[in-house]
Amino acid sequence: LALSVKSPLSIRLCGPRGFCAGVDRAIQIVVLALKAYGAPVYVRHEIVHNRYVVEGLEAKGAVFVEELDEIPAEHRQQPVVFSAHGVPKSVPEDATARNLFYLDATCPLVSKVHKQAMRHQRLGRHVVLIGHAGHPEVIGTMGQLPPGTVSLVETIEDAQVYVPQDPDNLGYVTQTTLSVDDTAGVIAKLQERFPNLMAPAADSICYATTNRQEAVKHAAPGCDLFIVVGAPNSSNSKRLVEVALRAGAKRSILVQRADELDWAEIGQIRTLGLSAGASAPEVIVDEIIAAFKHRFDATIDLAITAEETENFLVNRELRNVPLTVE
Ligand code: F3S
Repeated sequence: LALSVKSPLSIRLCGPRGFCAGVDRAIQIVVLALKAYGAPVYVRHEIVHNRYVVEGLEAKGAVFVEELDEIPAEHRQQPVVFSAHGVPKSVPEDATARNLFYLDATCPLVSKVHKQAMRHQRLGRHVVLIGHAGHPEVIGTMGQLPPGTVSLVETIEDAQVYVPQDPDNLGYVTQTTLSVDDTAGVIAKLQERFPNLMAPAADSICYATTNRQEAVKHAAPGCDLFIVVGAPNSSNSKRLVEVALRAGAKRSILVQRADELDWAEIGQIRTLGLSAGASAPEVIVDEIIAAFKHRFDATIDLAITAEETENFLVNRELRNVPLTVE
């Protein structure tokens, strides 16, 4: 064993990667609510799409539910947190009707998209939402508007065949975590067919999505393998896998934990790209690096394309709770 020589591996570590300000805030809200109000704190839907994060909060006393009617009557005075992805308007209404105390952890950048969608509607426009069907953010954004006033367009093919009632009165918004390049194609197709289509006042794809994709694009060319740390239900993480392949990585995979790595399949690689979706904690990135260092003579080369300083304040009710975890 002592004689075995590890082969060299360059790990191109992308920056920015991992937690965005919206995810960081959502997790803080649950932790602070547990401190301020004690367990249990209910959370409607996975607070962010990451099992490791969810299990860590469960261990502290968070209880995850899909719908509000799962909260037992005797715990009605305990807070319920809405996830970072946002919720339809009916959810806070339902919480109020049930006399629940809720804390909304919707990312402020998702709330901004909600406002833009409502603004289009106020101005008499039918809203076109570009996004992925079934994703909680899409359900939340559609749920800001009355039924029949918003249409979902997922792909360039959808944009090609979409038939609006009034083609001259349309406004679009998008999901915050889409592929920047694919979305530009969908918008261009819609604009070509509907020249009066109105854009939102600001881009819907968020800074974190844009920056993570940019860093992956920079690092991916020539990588034998590109690993994105993230969950299979995480939209922004899945987009990073696609971006890596398109930018020239030979292979790209989504990995949740180091113990999932299939070393036989990975084989002898020389260049590894590494990034993490906005809901993936840095400890898992460290874990993956350690696993590669164990098998390869690995060196880290940073691929940094932006600095991020965004930081979102938690809900007013929680601002005076100290964030020290005992
Ligand atoms: Fe918000 Fe973008 Fe993160 S919308 S939750 S900052 S991925």
